[in-house]
Amino acid sequence: MKITFFGTQPYDRESFDRIGGAYGFEFRYHRNHLNANNAILAKGYDAVCIFVNDTADAETIGQLSELGVKLIALRCAGFNNVDLAAAARCHIPVVRVPAYSPHAVAEHAVALMLSLNRKIHRAYWRTRDGNFSLHGLLGFDMYGKTAGIIGTGKIARELIHILKGFGMDVLAHDIYPDAEYARTAGITYVPLEELYARADIISLHCPLTDQTRYMIGDVAIAHMKPGVMLINTGRGQLIHTEALIDGLKEKKVGAAGLDVYEEEAGYFYEDTSDRIMDDDVLARLLSFNNVIVTSHQGFFTREALDNIARTTLQNIADFDQHRKLVNEVRAEPENSMV
Ligand code: NAI
Repeated sequence: MKITFFGTQPYDRESFDRIGGAYGFEFRYHRNHLNANNAILAKGYDAVCIFVNDTADAETIGQLSELGVKLIALRCAGFNNVDLAAAARCHIPVVRVPAYSPHAVAEHAVALMLSLNRKIHRAYWRTRDGNFSLHGLLGFDMYGKTAGIIGTGKIARELIHILKGFGMDVLAHDIYPDAEYARTAGITYVPLEELYARADIISLHCPLTDQTRYMIGDVAIAHMKPGVMLINTGRGQLIHTEALIDGLKEKKVGAAGLDVYEEEAGYFYEDTSDRIMDDDVLARLLSFNNVIVTSHQGFFTREALDNIARTTLQNIADFDQHRKLVNEVRAEPENSMV
């Protein structure tokens, strides 16, 4: 198999080159994100390997098909950036890495919560400047507070396990509530409105779908507790960013930890420090001292990178050897998450 990678960083190359030797595949890496303008780079390759900010829309997939690409291998869990119906029409299977380290993302969500609560990001700069004042750094005990978790899949369950360890009460919402899990984990499924009204910290762990796109907007924020902390390690478009900014300005939202942003593709994973930022919404977000933006790095642990490379390569090998594609995603109702 000849595989061409888009949106690659040095750490992708390191893990795929290290683990890929055993498979006998040929790799070609591109820094650029895949889109309809550069799909031609896939000419002569059997598979394209893409990540969260590559665009595999109908136009791009049509071109890949004409170029003879036979497989789209996502090296991530989410597949909202792939037009699955278009892939099906072109008979191009789409495979992904459904779980590479739920721990990594859950732990990152906790890192955001603790940093925002105890103002670690501000204390870090303050003490380096010889300012040892505690003014403005007051936090709260996590113990006894209520977390509201939206989506109770693999990542959320790891997060809930950690938050229960702090002694937090956990409310959850999922379109497919799991009563047995709720009983054993000691959590309560509630309607969204109740979760919004009661949670001190709300963390998003559902996929981006037509149903969840902009679920956190003006109306949802209006239902929330004053001073609520919002954490998003899911997908940027789960939150309507301008509504969040209004909520922050009105002090309704007390803090926000964002590992994802709806217009992240032009910025995240790139060093743009020598450019003037032309995204006013992102610039406004970054101006709040109670907002932490991280660059979609929830997944970024050594263990996760290894698992991503191993599962992606196994998915490709399974395709090559006509085995069942256990990690295939299809445009069927249960998977229509775009
Ligand atoms: P999962 O598939 O195990 O769990 C998702 C849960 O969301 C399921 O229980 C599902 O029933 C629920 N759900 C679906 N639609 C819903 C809705 N409308 N309302 C409430 N719940 C709904 O997924 P996993 O592995 O826990 O990942 C969750 C999301 O995290 C992914 O979809 C992806 O977008 C994001 N992610 C972010 C990463 C990062 O680096 N920041 C890395 C990996 C995933």
